[in-house]
Amino acid sequence: MSSKITRRRFIGRSFSLGAGAFLFRGFSLSAGPQKGMTPLVITSHTNQTGQAALEKGWSLLMEGKTALDAVEKAANVIELDPEGTGVGYGGLPNEEGIVQLDASIMDGRTYSAGSVACLENIKTPCSVARIIMEETDHVMMAGNDALKFAKKWGFKEENLLTEKARKIWLRWKTEISKSDDWGLPDHLRGLKKKKINNRMSEEIQYRTGTTNVLAVDKNGDIAGVTTTSGLSFKIPGRVGDSPIIGAGLYVDNEVGAAGATGRGEDVIKCCASFYIVMRMKEGRTPQQACEDAVALIAEKYKNINPKFMPGEKFIAVNKRGEVGCTSTRGRRPARLSLQTAEGYSVYEGTKGSSR
Ligand code: GLY
Repeated sequence: MSSKITRRRFIGRSFSLGAGAFLFRGFSLSAGPQKGMTPLVITSHTNQTGQAALEKGWSLLMEGKTALDAVEKAANVIELDPEGTGVGYGGLPNEEGIVQLDASIMDGRTYSAGSVACLENIKTPCSVARIIMEETDHVMMAGNDALKFAKKWGFKEENLLTEKARKIWLRWKTEISKSDDWGLPDHLRGLKKKKINNRMSEEIQYRTGTTNVLAVDKNGDIAGVTTTSGLSFKIPGRVGDSPIIGAGLYVDNEVGAAGATGRGEDVIKCCASFYIVMRMKEGRTPQQACEDAVALIAEKYKNINPKFMPGEKFIAVNKRGEVGCTSTRGRRPARLSLQTAEGYSVYEGTKGSSR
């Protein structure tokens, strides 16, 4: 372990990670203790759309519907929101201006899973994933064949690129593409944040905007969805962690569920959601298990580039309805929203960084 890591300063209430892990700078504002309660439905989305999604999921749970129904229909609310630029309809497109969606669904009760990758023109990819899970013996379908499959099952083909997303994409194209003739003339590139031709030149960062929805129903069965338009302006065909079972989503009916958002590449490499659920199986709380996953990733980079910390957020719930979340970057600790018999609330987890 490098001295840089071991000598890290702690801000606020610091926390240490489990056996085999190492300390990293972090703080917790209101991480716990959190009273576990079921049934419940949680999401990584903490805005109004997330709240509307939880209301939908909760109403289904109260009607006696399954956790699976709750997570799918709740996730549909987020997928169908044209204002959200990270999921479903309105999601930011790939480098070529085409919206390509990834999604997965997992049913703990039957230990079944389904997913779609690089799906175009369907607003509710998690529902296509559910059809794959329930109506075929496959888990994952991709690209044009997944679209053909969805259409056979009655899904309507629609343009997913909203004006808002198109303008953000065009702006990105004109400002930062270095690989073609778009953007400023060569001799003016690099003059960032200076006014050129009456417009502000500033770098538009890649964005991720995935969502996870996890639920435990009245029978104690657990299900989850992860759905996304993926990394903005991604290379066409790039698949993130969201449709990969064990990476962007994992559910074990005897233990709990976990989901990931943020940049998916490291989530894939460390099978983060599976790891979080397995840590919970070993007795870690959902909060500790999420922090363990961050530590796992940081540990891998400590000798290669100790300053590097990929941007991820993990959320988890166990069978008792205890929740946890953590993020690797950002101005504040990670949050998730939850709906239980006590109402809607926002849970604040922790933030950890190797820096
Ligand atoms: N976590 C979403 C992605 O990387 O595509």
